[in-house]
Amino acid sequence: MKKYEIVKKDLITPNTYRMDIYAPRIAKKSLAGQFIILRATEDGERIPLTTADVDREKGLVTIIFQMVGLSTNILGGMNVGDALHDFVGPLGRPSELDGLKKVICIGGGVGTAVVYPAVKQLHENGAQVDVIVGARNKEYVILEDEIKKNSTHLYITTDDGSYGRKGFVTDQLKDLLDKSNDYDEVIAIGPMIMMKFVSKLTKEYGVKTTVSLNPIMVDGTGMCGGCRVTVGGQVKYACVDGPDFDGHEVDFDELMKRQNTYTEEEKDKERKCGGIYHD
Ligand code: NAD
Ligand code: FES
Repeated sequence: MKKYEIVKKDLITPNTYRMDIYAPRIAKKSLAGQFIILRATEDGERIPLTTADVDREKGLVTIIFQMVGLSTNILGGMNVGDALHDFVGPLGRPSELDGLKKVICIGGGVGTAVVYPAVKQLHENGAQVDVIVGARNKEYVILEDEIKKNSTHLYITTDDGSYGRKGFVTDQLKDLLDKSNDYDEVIAIGPMIMMKFVSKLTKEYGVKTTVSLNPIMVDGTGMCGGCRVTVGGQVKYACVDGPDFDGHEVDFDELMKRQNTYTEEEKDKERKCGGIYHD
């Protein structure tokens, strides 16, 4: 098999692909919470993606990505048998999951792929894992079967009520916390706005909350400063200090402003390339 070859490719929502990449050394070492940075082509942009799963025996790393810009659309256009130009990792610090006995894991949209390794690890550790998966509608719910197999309870919410409970993940979270407030931790991964409101709610209940941040990244090794975030009033770099952080300490408003810095450039690139956005 070629280095970084795409071994499997599936469209799992109208704009989300799941790919298995042949990268045995990364598959061997990667732990829940860590990420890789890939370039589809030599002149391509670097794309940071948290590993969604690994098959250590076969040497495969699973990535799940939404086609929301030029680079992820180019990646989505590649096929089984093609090889990525580079694939670097595992990067970042693994999630701290040891000792947790009762946890709520929340996956918002494509963030469900990022929380899944933690769900699986906690389940293997024998913890009670209650999972909330939120999506805009039924078509965007991902990894339902895999999570069902690896969790104690699975609650699904959709914004439009087309599947599971109608509403946001925070509606279901509030109900769980009202019922029993003895959870060790909440782990929430999804859109920034979701992580902000989950953290706001859990603060009221006094439950420790971990979020995984995905700011703009360039080198992924702490050198460029691109992924700078403010946590507890201090500057941190998501690629080396994270990507997991205490949700009660993150300055989400600053992060959301920074996240939109290149929106116009992305749109401009899209216009020049004939508009191939899928979102
Ligand atoms: P989405 O916009 O469809 O939202 C997913 C769910 O988040 C919703 O169904 C809802 O339950 C919840 N949510 C949204 N707004 C909320 C609010 N105001 N209050 C409470 N809950 C709310 O998600 P999507 O389009 O699949 O996600 C795309 C976003 O996820 C992108 O912005 C991307 O950057 C981010 N993302 C983050 C990570 C990460 O590691 N943190 C990884 C992948 C993607
Ligand atoms: Fe450059 Fe983190 S990506 S410092």
